[in-house]
Amino acid sequence: MPQFFASCPKGLVEPLESELKSLGLHPYDRSQNGVFFESNWEGCYKVNLYSRFASRILMPVLNFPAYQPEELYNNIRKHDFTKYIDVHQTLKVDASTKDSMIKDQRFIAMKVKDAIVDQFREKTGERPNVENDRPDLTVYVKVYKNNFSVAIDTSGDSLFMRGYRLEAGEAPLKENLAAGLLQLSGWDMKTPLVDPMCGSGTILIEAMMMVLKIAPGSLRKRFGFMNLKNFNRPAWDDIVDEAISAEVETTDLHFYGYDMDRRVLDKAIENAKRAGVNEFIQFKKGNVTTLVAPVEKGLIITNPPYGARLGDEDNLRDVYRDFSHTLKNQFKGWDAWILSGNKDLIGDLKLKSSRKHFVYNGSIECRFLRYEIR
Ligand SMILES: C[S@@+](CC[C@H](N)C(=O)[O-])C[C@H]1O[C@@H](n2cnc3c(N)ncnc32)[C@H](O)[C@@H]1O
Repeated sequence: MPQFFASCPKGLVEPLESELKSLGLHPYDRSQNGVFFESNWEGCYKVNLYSRFASRILMPVLNFPAYQPEELYNNIRKHDFTKYIDVHQTLKVDASTKDSMIKDQRFIAMKVKDAIVDQFREKTGERPNVENDRPDLTVYVKVYKNNFSVAIDTSGDSLFMRGYRLEAGEAPLKENLAAGLLQLSGWDMKTPLVDPMCGSGTILIEAMMMVLKIAPGSLRKRFGFMNLKNFNRPAWDDIVDEAISAEVETTDLHFYGYDMDRRVLDKAIENAKRAGVNEFIQFKKGNVTTLVAPVEKGLIITNPPYGARLGDEDNLRDVYRDFSHTLKNQFKGWDAWILSGNKDLIGDLKLKSSRKHFVYNGSIECRFLRYEIR
C-alpha cells in the first residue's frame, strides 16, 4: 500500500490527523508539519479533494543520507521516476537544505533533476523538459543534517488554494488555516458566527462550506495526481460525484462579517459567491468601535490586524482597546476566539484568556485565544 504525507500549517497536525481518520484513512506517524498515512491512490485523491486542513499531499519515495554530490546522484537513480510521467511531460525539482554538507539548494535540485533525466534518456533516448510553472511532476527534496527525503507531489497548486478566493485584502489567512481555527475553537457548526474584522471573509466562507458540506477542492479543476501515468479518471469522477451529491443546499444558520474597509468587503462578497455560500453570510461595513451584536447569541472568531504585515503599532493598540470595549459592552455572554501574532497587542485587550493554541500563519507564530466575555 502506498504511503503519503499530508503537510499542514504548524499547529494543525491534530485536526489534520482526526480529519484523515474521519476520511477512513490510516495515519501511522506525524511530524510538526503534517501526518503520514497509508492509503491506495483513491484515498490520496479523496484527501486532496476533502481535506480542509492539509496544505499538500506528498508521496515519499526515498530517504537516504548523502554527503557528496555523487552519493546524492546514485541514490536518486535507485528509484524509478520514469513510472510517473512519460518523456514528453514536464518536470520540476524543488529543494531545500539545512545544516548539511551540500548547502546550495539550486545545486541539489540540479543534481536530482540530472539523475532523473538520465533515467529517461537511458530508457527512451529522450529527456523530459523542466518547467517551473505548473509542471506535470514536481519532486520535493528536503535535506536536513545530510539526510535526504524525496517525495512526489500529488496536489499541484497548494490545497489552501480552493479556487474561490481570487481577491483578498492585505493580510488574508490561508484558507486551510482559517478552517483549522474553526476546528480548534470547537465550534459546533450550529452557532452563528461573527467576524468583526473579516477582511476577504475567509473564516466565514470556510465555516459555511463546512455547514453545507462543500468539499474544499470541489471548485478546483486541477490536481497534481491528474498528470501522473497511473491517474484513474473513472475513480476520480466517482469520488467527485459522491462529494457533490453529499452537498447540502440550504441552512437556517447565518453568519455576519464586518470590516471598516468597503473595498475589502466587496472582495469578500465576490469570494463568498464563488464559493456558493453568499446567501448565508451577511457582509456589512462597520467599525469594531461601534459594532453591536447582530444576534442574541453567537461565537466570534476573528483575525485582527497585528502589525507584522498590516498597519502601524500605535493605531493597532487603539483597535485592540476599542475591540475589547465593544466585546465587554455588546457581547456579554459570548465567547470570542482571537488570532494574533503580536503578544503586546493581545495584552491591550486587558482580557484573560481561558484557552490557548499556538499556530503558524506562514512563518509568524500566532496565539489563538479564547475569551469568555462575562
Ligand atoms: C488581518 S485582516 C483580516 C484578514 C481576514 N481574516 C482574511 O482572511 O482576509 C484584518 C482586517 O481588519 C480590518 N480592520 C482593521 N481595523 C478595523 C476596525 N477598527 N474595524 C473594523 N475592521 C478593521 C482591516 O480592514 C482588515 O481587513
